[in-house]
Amino acid sequence: MTSTTSGTPSTPIDQTPEWAALAAHHAAIGNRHLRELFASDPTRAQAFTAEGAGLFLDYSKHRITRETLPLLLALARAAGVEERRAAMFRGDRINVTENRSVLHTALRLPPGEHLVVEGTDVVPGVNAVLDKMAAFADRVRSGAWAGHTGLRIRNVVNIGIGGSDLGPAMATEALRHYSERSMRFRFVSNVDGADMREALIDLEPAETLFIVSSKTFTTLETLTNARTARDWLVTGLDGATEAVAKHFVAVSTNAEQVRAFGIDTANMFEFWDWVGGRYSMDAAIGLSLMVAIGPDDFREVLAGFRAMDAHFQTAPLDQNLPVLMALLGIWYGNFLGFDTHAVLPYSQELARFPAYLQQLDMESNGKSVRLDGSRVTYATGPIVWGTAGTNGQHAYYQLLHQGTRIVPADLIGFVNPTTEIGDHHDLLVANLLAQAEAFAFGKTRDEVVASGVVPQQVDARVFEGNRPTSVLLAPRLTPRVLGALVALYEHKVFVQGVIWDIDSFDQWGVELGKVLATRIAAELTSPAEPVANAHDSSTAALIARFRAGRVRES
Ligand code: F6P
Repeated sequence: MTSTTSGTPSTPIDQTPEWAALAAHHAAIGNRHLRELFASDPTRAQAFTAEGAGLFLDYSKHRITRETLPLLLALARAAGVEERRAAMFRGDRINVTENRSVLHTALRLPPGEHLVVEGTDVVPGVNAVLDKMAAFADRVRSGAWAGHTGLRIRNVVNIGIGGSDLGPAMATEALRHYSERSMRFRFVSNVDGADMREALIDLEPAETLFIVSSKTFTTLETLTNARTARDWLVTGLDGATEAVAKHFVAVSTNAEQVRAFGIDTANMFEFWDWVGGRYSMDAAIGLSLMVAIGPDDFREVLAGFRAMDAHFQTAPLDQNLPVLMALLGIWYGNFLGFDTHAVLPYSQELARFPAYLQQLDMESNGKSVRLDGSRVTYATGPIVWGTAGTNGQHAYYQLLHQGTRIVPADLIGFVNPTTEIGDHHDLLVANLLAQAEAFAFGKTRDEVVASGVVPQQVDARVFEGNRPTSVLLAPRLTPRVLGALVALYEHKVFVQGVIWDIDSFDQWGVELGKVLATRIAAELTSPAEPVANAHDSSTAALIARFRAGRVRES
């Protein structure tokens, strides 16, 4: 095991025999083409599949042979993936730099289960909050929780950013089919006032509930937006400041700051410091989602998370979906040098899933130091990106098919649509399958010539292929399947973080910009000229230009 949480220097993973074996294997199999790999292994399509928690993974169209996976699994074992997995589920303080447990998996433990961490069983607290959320969601949905004037709540606006926005926003869109259609759900995150303006433009204050979601309750964007929303509400209700109690609730770990903002802590839904922001959509941060889809379907989401947790904990590593997906990412990022990863859901409902994954993956694994503080000597987290298929096909797939960079991709699809509309779904899935086939096998020069293309176009019409993809399929996008899908990626990110020996659960890289922004905000607005030499010459000049051009409406 290479990792340590004690600060004791450990063997970097790229200096282990397992890493060397993979490097040698890469040199040996070189850039063998998927055409050849399929031709030489007739049962490849059956062999390179795995299933768990309702999700089916076809990873046959990857640039691997039968020898690759055992070598990758040996690397995972050398890195201590199984031990670290047990440590996470047990509640050990594996978030080393923040000295915290990492227990988002406890959020999906049902009543009756027990998880005692440092002397406290965390399960009753988790379920007490869930029950409080459910009671509240039911009251809002039924109209029993009315606004200040007695009108029922028809609009829910979640104010949060990062992990306090992306998860519930993604999931509310993904599960729109299951949501209460008589209500509107909006998500405001950006400190750009246009975000709030557009969210509120057609809403009635008397019918609007704000859920202010912030783990710390100190985040500049969220508190600025929450204050603006409060002003909008009070102004819209003829100055009735007491209306805030009926129109604002909070989700946070910080009761003191919630109280300071003016929200009654009786209307606060808590979670705990052992839930990372980007791992919190199944904590109280999911309140807006629960109001949208109702407590029963929210519990279905949790059941999906739990099913994937169980799969991750118990499936043999060579059939373990998060482990397999993590190892394929390691293969590409560390041995083939492919540094981006596309996630392409063939589902409009999952349109926000890639954005959600960007935070989950890049905030977790965009790190350069190992647990013992030494600098890594290998690539860590990839650049994650993507949009809903088929839209991407008419935008950037040109580069994916014929560009000079190779972008491994996950294509996510569903056998059945949430709603049957004409032949849309079959066309959608046909596109997914066609793209995976085209990425892998391309179109050879001979095929292009044989198709009668004029000679001057032949080169431009060749598709090299050998572009790797995973295809993930589920029967239908249900709340349970969504939970399993999110947990799949959570655990994939975890496994990669273990192999890279980094802390996937801190996010110090977001701090510097926050500090500088606070300082610069004062310099942009102060009547006094900024202090000379407070910044580099470029930043100072931009501040001066902004100050000179800024026209303030009084
Ligand atoms: O700035 C990054 C971050 O800390 C994320 O990790 C987090 O999800 C987001 O900000 C929002 O933080 P909070 O929930 O405390 O407002």
